[in-house]
Amino acid sequence: MTAEPLLQIRELKTYFHTERGRVSPVDGVSLEVGKGEIVGIVGESGCGKSATAQSVLRLFDEKRLASYEGEIRYGERDLLRLTPKQMRSVRGNEISMIFQDPLSSLNPVHTIGDQIVETLRLHQSIGRREAAKKAVELLRLTGIPAPERRAREYPHQLSGGMRQRVMIAIALACQPQLLIADEPTTALDVTIQAQILELIQDLNRRLGMSVMLITHDLGVVAETCSRVVVMYLGQVVESGSVRDLFRKPLHPYTIGLMRSVPRLDGDRQRELPAVPGSVPPLHQIPSGCRFAPRCPYADDKCRSSQPELAALPGTDTQVRCWHAGRIAGWEAAQ
Ligand SMILES: Nc1ncnc2c1ncn2[C@@H]1O[C@H](COP(=O)(O)OP(=O)(O)OP(=O)(O)O)[C@@H](O)[C@H]1O
Ligand SMILES: [Mg+2]
Repeated sequence: MTAEPLLQIRELKTYFHTERGRVSPVDGVSLEVGKGEIVGIVGESGCGKSATAQSVLRLFDEKRLASYEGEIRYGERDLLRLTPKQMRSVRGNEISMIFQDPLSSLNPVHTIGDQIVETLRLHQSIGRREAAKKAVELLRLTGIPAPERRAREYPHQLSGGMRQRVMIAIALACQPQLLIADEPTTALDVTIQAQILELIQDLNRRLGMSVMLITHDLGVVAETCSRVVVMYLGQVVESGSVRDLFRKPLHPYTIGLMRSVPRLDGDRQRELPAVPGSVPPLHQIPSGCRFAPRCPYADDKCRSSQPELAALPGTDTQVRCWHAGRIAGWEAAQ
């Protein structure tokens, strides 16, 4: 990685203590987000993308549901060692998150402007009038037309794309160093999706804000990110620069995901489920390599012993596969 690291997750394990026993939606995840960098996290539904993001901000109920192991280095601190009070300050001032469904995260009974003002005043000691002015500026920054008028409107008066811009404005209110965007465009149509992604890129360039962008869409990653982390069943199976990964994916899961990227001639209906089978539930984790039951390369070794995530010499790529060397063309096929 070339950028100086801002967030370094090391061997993160998140446990959910459920009625059916203990499960790990995040099981030994290590990844980094550099300063000013946009890193994509991809994987099918249920792979633990959101759980990883929510663990960074420690959003799970630590009294009843979740516990964590490992390290989440953010600057000098390990977020897993902070008190709840210190964590609230990180959430409000340093790391912001935007969620998939903007309507459920906005308060229907308050105007857009008031909600941004409230966030601003929670984190900065400024007066109401100054905060109101800033709120309008933030709405303008996110490309909302007529922001003075929009500030007086309620969430239901805005389109999905506008609401997502409002969510981004709220997330930016504290001038975060890191924005975690969990599927920020999934609920939007394709044109609006492209606009929101452009907005995120623009904010990244202008404000130097780092972004962790969660998506199941590799097309989005190709257009927006510099690095990408591929997750399968709570683990990282491959990570590297977008350029390398798209040129030569090495993990069979990544190769499968790539095949499901819709053609550029457009029709998303034709998107193929390129990886046969489905992600098993957390209490039925296969032994050996977790991907083996769905993998065309799997052999006895894959089914009995789990590969580590290993760096590929001379590259930024890391891959968790017994056959990566062969797939890369470095070892003769047996
Ligand atoms: N509160 C919870 N209690 C128990 N299990 C949960 C809870 N939240 C998530 N899970 C499980 O954790 C696993 C990872 O879920 P997660 O939401 O992180 O997946 P994801 O990669 O974000 O998927 P999607 O693309 O659908 O958003 C899943 O098996 C899910 O069922
Ligand atoms: Mg999710």
